Amino acid sequence: MTTDVIPADLAPDLAAFIAGLPKCELHVHLEGTLSPSLKLALATRNNVELAEKTVAEVEATYQFDSLTSFLAVYYPAMNVLVTVDDFRDLALAYLTKAASQGVRHVEMFFDPQAHTGRGVPFQTVIRGYRRAIVEAQAQLGISAELIMCFLRDLSAEFAMATLLESLQYRDWIIGVGLDSDERDNPPSKFATVFARARAEGFLLTMHCDIDQVGSIENIRQAIEEIGVDRLDHGTNIVENPSLVEQVRKRGIGLTCCPFSNSFVTNDMKANEIVQLLRDGVKVTINSDDPAYFGGYVSENYSALAADAGLTAAEMLQLARNSFTASWLPAHVRDGYLAELDTYAAQHGVSTADRVNPIPRDVH
Ligand code: ADE
Ligand code: ZN
Repeated sequence: MTTDVIPADLAPDLAAFIAGLPKCELHVHLEGTLSPSLKLALATRNNVELAEKTVAEVEATYQFDSLTSFLAVYYPAMNVLVTVDDFRDLALAYLTKAASQGVRHVEMFFDPQAHTGRGVPFQTVIRGYRRAIVEAQAQLGISAELIMCFLRDLSAEFAMATLLESLQYRDWIIGVGLDSDERDNPPSKFATVFARARAEGFLLTMHCDIDQVGSIENIRQAIEEIGVDRLDHGTNIVENPSLVEQVRKRGIGLTCCPFSNSFVTNDMKANEIVQLLRDGVKVTINSDDPAYFGGYVSENYSALAADAGLTAAEMLQLARNSFTASWLPAHVRDGYLAELDTYAAQHGVSTADRVNPIPRDVH
């Protein structure tokens, strides 16, 4: 897939500004960072028979135009992930790439049920990911946390069993999320699981994917019934001003993913993302499944800037939002915000140009 592509109509100085911008990534699925070359290498290492023998052949299978058709390619690819080393290598490759794009901190999803369901123990998955996090912090200076996602097209009982199994690794997981096929799988199906997760001290987020049947009702449930701390995608909220007002007032971050949107709906949703940003919602920009959607986090910033004609000040605001919507401890977050201000000053971007520097109801 194409990465590191700077859109032709993006000014080179803005592209450079984005590339070096200190930022967090808050919406990336570790299993969605499995590049074709790593997939082939792991298949060889684990004697997993694949129909595809070359990177080009793997890429040729990336034919999707909806969430469902993407997931049909995404899950079978995971069969090459078998050992602790495999999970470690996957996460370390992603963290290395993220660090090269100015990412200081990542909160990354993983899908344990996609592995335990095919016989790979929970501990194999989490030990591998944890090892990568510790190595990346030491070698690259990037910090990372894990968010455990439940697969919403499986039962609430399986999700609860997974939550209980995860408790022995409580310190290695910052929050829980909900992903996979949203159709007929609303947030309310998992209300008991998320209530237990909250009681165990996990932070809460969940996918409200783009243009789903019942998108607005699912967003409402996530905010009002589940009480999420963040919303993944959630861009359809723009259709409902009173929900927009709730997330704005409560400072609930939205983790938007322009490249992913282009694949699953044929529209980057730039207008909606920019409208929310300019309305003072804590919008953030992320890559979702970068190995499949053709770009990592900086490419997502660049594509949005090119498509919507955004300024450096708006890129700066998106990066600020990534820190203020993160689950970093306040003193660490504030250190990064100061670094961001220094970076902006060095590039002649005034922080006074920030979009909505102060929420409207705070004076
Ligand atoms: N799993 C991986 N990527 C996803 C997405 N964008 N939506 C729902 N589930 C996912
Ligand atoms: Zn996602």
